[in-house]
Amino acid sequence: MPKPEKHVFVCTQSRPQGHPRSSCTEKQSNSIFDEFLWQMQQRNLFARIQITSTGCMGPCSEGPTVLIYPEGVMYAGVTKADVEVIFDQHLLNDQPVERLLMSSEFWG
Ligand code: FES
Repeated sequence: MPKPEKHVFVCTQSRPQGHPRSSCTEKQSNSIFDEFLWQMQQRNLFARIQITSTGCMGPCSEGPTVLIYPEGVMYAGVTKADVEVIFDQHLLNDQPVERLLMSSEFWG
């Protein structure tokens, strides 16, 4: 398997309803993960980009969270509509989406 140019981790952690930390799944992160897969399929980027669902990455209150390597850029409060922007700006043009960057209080 070739090493991907970008590796995208989407938090799909769930927790019991009412848990004090909530979870990214409670904020619809599964649909965000599906949208990443859909956008990758539409652009036929299977050889260049890898998408992985993952457990909690820490800053649950800021979720849904998405982490992209090799840059180590974490995004906060990602919506389904943001996924296309992340593809166009970051994954294909190496320009992180400033408005979605995780606060340095949580990732820095
Ligand atoms: S549940 Fe997603 S960052 Fe903690």
